[in-house]
Amino acid sequence: MNVITVKTKEEAAKKAVEIIEDVLNRGDLKSFGLATGGTMEPVYKELSKTDLDFSHVTAFNLDEYVGLTAEHPNSYAYYMKEKLFNQKVFENTYIPNGSAEDLKAECNRYEQLLSDHPLDLQLLGVGENGHIAFNEPGTPFTSNTHVTNLTQSTIDANSPYFENKDAVPTKALTMGISSILRARKIILLAFGEKKREALNQLFKGTVTEECPVTILQNHPDVTVITDLNDLS
Ligand code: F6R
Repeated sequence: MNVITVKTKEEAAKKAVEIIEDVLNRGDLKSFGLATGGTMEPVYKELSKTDLDFSHVTAFNLDEYVGLTAEHPNSYAYYMKEKLFNQKVFENTYIPNGSAEDLKAECNRYEQLLSDHPLDLQLLGVGENGHIAFNEPGTPFTSNTHVTNLTQSTIDANSPYFENKDAVPTKALTMGISSILRARKIILLAFGEKKREALNQLFKGTVTEECPVTILQNHPDVTVITDLNDLS
């Protein structure tokens, strides 16, 4: 695992963009896995400032809340438009449809798209409880795209983006851990004390489904960018 320690989120974003640029310029970025959340905001801000051309790149987002349409300001589809897709043209952009009538069928459709477009690079954040995408503690490492129940910790962490805690959806569609691990290269960003325990587990913990992020110890190409400098 490659660890890059930075002082600020802006510096982290620049480092992440350098790696993205390198993969893109080598012609190795056809399928690009994206994340949402506060951690990714500076990355998309930085990417939007560049003249990088994503018009031959297909984007796949990790997850979406169940019950929110793409027009809902708290949906991840809306977030992606605001933060990146309005600024950068992609060949195609895919996000699981959280308002699909048949959620199981939607998960299967998404997983099929992923296997048709194997991910070259995946951006990841991490939850305070060690989740990656919305794979909460206890999710099998063999999981593909599925419907998940969000834990109270995740609902609490995401509630500042909503009117109140009760407005946070309790379910989401998420790429599975197996879906994520198939990405050729992974960049994980984590900032602040709230992420310390998750990173401690990633660097020093036992690989266990109780802390999903630990599975990245078994991936051959992971770069962690963090402002926590006394960890590894
Ligand atoms: C978002 C996602 C989540 C977040 C994680 C951290 O698409 O998959 O796993 O990356 O919850 O969220 P922030 O960045 O808001 O701390």
